[in-house]
Amino acid sequence: ATKTETSQSAFHFTEVEAGVDAHHHVAEGYDADVLLRWGDALFPDSPSFDPARQAPEAQARQFGYNNDFVGYLPMPGAADPSSHGVLFVNHEYTNPHLMFPGIVEIKDGKLSMHAATPERFRIEAMAHGATIAEIRKVDGKWALIKDSSLNRRVTVATEIHLSGPVSGTDRVKTNADPSGRKVLGTLNNCSGAMTPWGTFVSGEENIHGYFSGALPEGHRETANYQRLSIPLAPYAWGRFEDRFDLSKEPNEANRFGWVVEVDPFDPQSVPKKRTALGRFKHEGADNVVAKDGRVAVYLGDDERFDYVYKFVTASRFDPTNRAANMDLLDTGTLHVAKFSADGTVLWLPLVFGQGPLTEANGFSNQADVLIETRRAADLVGATKMDRPEDITPHAATGRVYIMLTNNTKRKPDEVDAANPRAENAFGHIIEIIEESGNHAATRGRWEILLKCGDPSVAAVGATFSTETSKNGWFGMPDNAVIDSAGRLWVATDGNDAKATGRADGLWAVDTDGPSRATSKLFFRVPHGAEMCGPCFTPDDTTAFVAVQHPADDGPDWPEFGRYSYYEDLSTRWPDFKPDMPARPSVVAITRKGGGKIGT
Ligand code: FEO
Ligand code: CA
Ligand code: CA
Ligand code: CA
Repeated sequence: ATKTETSQSAFHFTEVEAGVDAHHHVAEGYDADVLLRWGDALFPDSPSFDPARQAPEAQARQFGYNNDFVGYLPMPGAADPSSHGVLFVNHEYTNPHLMFPGIVEIKDGKLSMHAATPERFRIEAMAHGATIAEIRKVDGKWALIKDSSLNRRVTVATEIHLSGPVSGTDRVKTNADPSGRKVLGTLNNCSGAMTPWGTFVSGEENIHGYFSGALPEGHRETANYQRLSIPLAPYAWGRFEDRFDLSKEPNEANRFGWVVEVDPFDPQSVPKKRTALGRFKHEGADNVVAKDGRVAVYLGDDERFDYVYKFVTASRFDPTNRAANMDLLDTGTLHVAKFSADGTVLWLPLVFGQGPLTEANGFSNQADVLIETRRAADLVGATKMDRPEDITPHAATGRVYIMLTNNTKRKPDEVDAANPRAENAFGHIIEIIEESGNHAATRGRWEILLKCGDPSVAAVGATFSTETSKNGWFGMPDNAVIDSAGRLWVATDGNDAKATGRADGLWAVDTDGPSRATSKLFFRVPHGAEMCGPCFTPDDTTAFVAVQHPADDGPDWPEFGRYSYYEDLSTRWPDFKPDMPARPSVVAITRKGGGKIGT
């Protein structure tokens, strides 16, 4: 039981019991309905999903794999903005061992997976990207509008333009695109956000896994690619498409690792890679209109010992003229954060010609600074963080919440004030208080809101409030949102259910008053999954969450399936049917009888 009598928590719901099983669980009094599943038809002519006979052409017309970010924008002119809108969902990556029957073999306790075929490559490639889907609530339940002209798949074959300072420069020119302006596709889209002008932004994260082959000896991109671990084997798409082979197309990898902006209300619009926001392993791009009308975009680079960034637009957001805002993200200043032990944070500009970002250090222009953002940030002395994931600004308070998911490689002599735990297995959340509450400020104060992990184990050093129940603590914060009531919700990735008996989930975290650093479990995922999303409708009556890679438990957990497609039915969330694999899916959470969530 929660101590509701004395609590001053901003959240009011009965907590879910922490644990793990075949199902998802939501707080009592709520419905959690599966809305979109991998393979669902998005168009009237989409082939129905046949997992035993998949095809790239079919997948390109169906909901993709491994839903991560979920965003929602009301339909312009909707009678109720929270009952009719467009959903934008990232499809981050593929898990072939869970997608295709018969490709995993276990011999003498050893696991092997068949090598990809060209056909399998094309299916997986089409399962990446994003989905745009018009949805509507009818009789209290959300449903896809299948014949909407707004429904769209963005895949690895979609034409996307490079815009901003890098567009048209030499280091992004290829044989297929001598203009250096037109890229095919977006990859490994992790988190994202809505913008105030009604578009979606989406971060390209672990792009290194798609490239294979070797750069020509002494090629100028050698150090650049090494800093991003390009290439790394898992997908190795160079076997199937020349542009992913570094020996044949050495510049293609410079065309990935950006934030992509998509206008969902114009299905003909060409998505844009906004190069002014830098190139790294982008988590998300949550943003806010600062007091002076400029827009601040917070950007995490999800790698151990990498950085927290903030882009500030040069021009102001114009709430009365949507068209005037459509290229705001092309011009402005990218900054990187330096956290000091005295509690100040400085946002250091990454501008060609300033400080060390000069010809002497190999930068010839701003395009070079942006293509090699990490090296520029190294040179200005930014603070090396414990894997920055979502960074969520709070418009009303001028505060910002940074999810630092973990960093088990930080050694005792590498700890600092902002990353204070060696072998940080559970992560932490930093709160920034921007100067004068101005999100465009170049300095602020910071403190740690929460060190994550089990507070009952002293050695972990977790700092949840004593009001937090045994169900309420979590580790590995990943995605975060602030709802319209100004409350923080955190989704986790990596609670090792085998070790702890706890699945990932969605937690409600108090940030203010005596209940600060209190956390409560609202929703948990089935075994093998991680929690992505969440996204609230503007009136907080629906929370959309994404259940990513259900059944991906690894090879050594026989009671929950054995790492392959056709094992026992308990691996088959959410359908639990013999002819249907586990399917990553978006879930809509509503209150029984209606009403705001968590009040
Ligand atoms: Fe795709 Fe940073 O998680
Ligand atoms: Ca993430
Ligand atoms: Ca993560
Ligand atoms: Ca994640």
